[in-house]
Amino acid sequence: MKKFAIAVDGPAGSGKSTVAKAVAKKLGIIYVDTGAMYRAVAYFCIYKGISPSDEVGVLDLLEEMNLEIQPQEGGQRILLDGEDITDKIRTQEIGQGASNVGKIQSVRQKLGDMQREMAKNHVVIMDGRDIGTYVLPRAEVKIYMDAGVDERAKRRMGELEAKGEKPDFASIRQEIIQRDENDMNRVHNPLCKAEDAVYLDTTNMSIDDVVNEILKICKEKISEV
Ligand code: C5P
Repeated sequence: MKKFAIAVDGPAGSGKSTVAKAVAKKLGIIYVDTGAMYRAVAYFCIYKGISPSDEVGVLDLLEEMNLEIQPQEGGQRILLDGEDITDKIRTQEIGQGASNVGKIQSVRQKLGDMQREMAKNHVVIMDGRDIGTYVLPRAEVKIYMDAGVDERAKRRMGELEAKGEKPDFASIRQEIIQRDENDMNRVHNPLCKAEDAVYLDTTNMSIDDVVNEILKICKEKISEV
């Protein structure tokens, strides 16, 4: 298969990972969840008792951090010093911590380099906040997925309820607003739509609708698909 890359960006809870995983499966390519990498850094900080906002402390930790991404069918596993932390990093606290470590430029540089390396070695669909603008600016397909904040909070509630949790709608909604605010206004690589990205408002679209729309865009832009 000729090399190509699909970049998917958008705010918290816009459905990027669900959709990107499904597109990866349909096309037989690798899905890379870059948010999980920021979450892993936040997890390591919290584990070591360092605040994710403490730039000097985070940079020291980054030096000793042994992070490994294993692309697999149906998603990716993320290993820290050989321990599989994929499921442990999906909490609200770690999401907020990820948003804080994501403000630090050297963290972005290190993770960005790892992400580019993966795209060099595999055909990927990669989701995050700065993939189309910074990590893979020459990706063949760029999508910016958005949805209204109430809809995004509803989707997050559904995910947490499916895991047996009893989330509070108001606090989930507030956390999403706070993360949008952080991600869109940080100094280094803030979340924004790449000029050449296709904007998809998924508020009233089903997962299948969004997957089919992205597959259609891929067929138009990549001759091998
Ligand atoms: O997508 P997810 O909710 O797992 O991302 C967690 C946080 O990681 C985001 O709110 C964002 O601050 C940060 N992130 C980032 N750049 C990326 C992916 C995630 O700054 N490419």
